[in-house]
Amino acid sequence: MGELKYHIITYGCQMNIHDSEKIAGALYELGYNNTDDVKDADIIVFNTCCIRENAENHAYGNIGALKNLKKLKKDLIIAVGGCMTQQNGAAEKLKNKFPFVDIIFGTHNLFNFKQLVKNKLETGKSIIEVYEKEGCITENEFKKRTSYPNAWVTITYGCNNFCTYCIVPYVRGRERSRNINDVVNEVKQLVAEGYKEITLLGQNVNSYGSDMNYKINFSMLLKEISAIDGKFRLRFMTNHPKDLSEDMVKVMSESDKICKSVHLPVQAGSNRILKLMNRKYTREDYMYKVELLRKYIPNCQITTDIMVGFPSETEEDFLDTMDLVKKCNFSGAFTFVYSKRSGTKAAEMEQIDELTKKERIIRLVDLVKTQNRTKSDIYKNRVIEVLCEDFDKKKNMYMGRDEYGRMAYFNSDKSLIGEFINLKIIKTGGISLVGEIV
Ligand code: 5AD
Ligand code: SF4
Repeated sequence: MGELKYHIITYGCQMNIHDSEKIAGALYELGYNNTDDVKDADIIVFNTCCIRENAENHAYGNIGALKNLKKLKKDLIIAVGGCMTQQNGAAEKLKNKFPFVDIIFGTHNLFNFKQLVKNKLETGKSIIEVYEKEGCITENEFKKRTSYPNAWVTITYGCNNFCTYCIVPYVRGRERSRNINDVVNEVKQLVAEGYKEITLLGQNVNSYGSDMNYKINFSMLLKEISAIDGKFRLRFMTNHPKDLSEDMVKVMSESDKICKSVHLPVQAGSNRILKLMNRKYTREDYMYKVELLRKYIPNCQITTDIMVGFPSETEEDFLDTMDLVKKCNFSGAFTFVYSKRSGTKAAEMEQIDELTKKERIIRLVDLVKTQNRTKSDIYKNRVIEVLCEDFDKKKNMYMGRDEYGRMAYFNSDKSLIGEFINLKIIKTGGISLVGEIV
């Protein structure tokens, strides 16, 4: 038998991409190596997402497509895990639809994934393991990091907010913060290994420590990490406007490590809708937080998430969202059409028709694009520092990002991945830039 290979298919957010690094780490320790070719793999893992219906549909389609491969390769192990399987009744539904799946595991069972694979190899029996209760916080598990020079570090697991549209609190459990020393030591280790950009992850990083009686908080964590020696960038996501504090903004303004960009999801601009969403802030509160950021950090770039088509959204509500987008002058925005998630409160509310949702998302995307285009123009002829992250095979150019996350492409005859480079921007337009090394 040749070398054992794994192939992981990841859906959804950064949190999931990082979970896949943990899955890869477990498989590596079991003697598997990565393959990009699904047909070559001895084990295929789907790390699923269920935040919107289309993410689920994608996963279902791709799992179904493996039926024939499994027939040809009897020893192939197919595992499905992540947020989708953690939903009520989802594991059984999956097993009925795809009896050829060998392992089904929930988000709360990720810490035990290595053992599940071992059990499957030893007994040959298929396994369903989806715990209702949150799994323990594991420290020092091996992660096979895939995005050098960037590294993700989880600071909190789960979410307590129960925004009425969102499935996350149901599939990721209650908020749990990692010990501050464990986080700081992990970052120190990564910087020592040569990672140049660290992104702290949590569903609501601003409430870090709230499950530990606030003896520690997010600002303290940021301060400690900023004090680590070496040149690296520090980012964090995602922020919840209700918990973003003035103290944190001050720490951010004083640190030469923390990137001056903040992802601050607003979701909607109408106070009536924000209340129905259970976001616990008004549009005025939100705009105050934006002002605060710009007061302490004049060049701060703010990006956001916006949703259209939430239950009962009227044209007037939607126009409030458009108005807020115009006023906040975002540097970028992820836009979503509300997707009904069963088990959430909003799923029981009065839904609006698909056509209206489509028409609104087109208008919103149009506005966001126009704002982006004008933002790119200010880069023309400027010199910016980028961290070179990757080589783009299609463009045949290297790609880096500035501290605000803006992508820039450039030529070089040797690999500069992991290095900070000064670029003079010669072309703008769309989202990405083109520059020359200076
Ligand atoms: N439908 C559409 N978008 C959603 N999001 C979360 N839940 C839903 C849903 N049910 C969006 C929010 C969140 C982002 C990660 O996904 O905007 O900030
Ligand atoms: Fe979902 Fe709201 Fe928690 Fe974000 S803060 S994960 S939108 S419930």
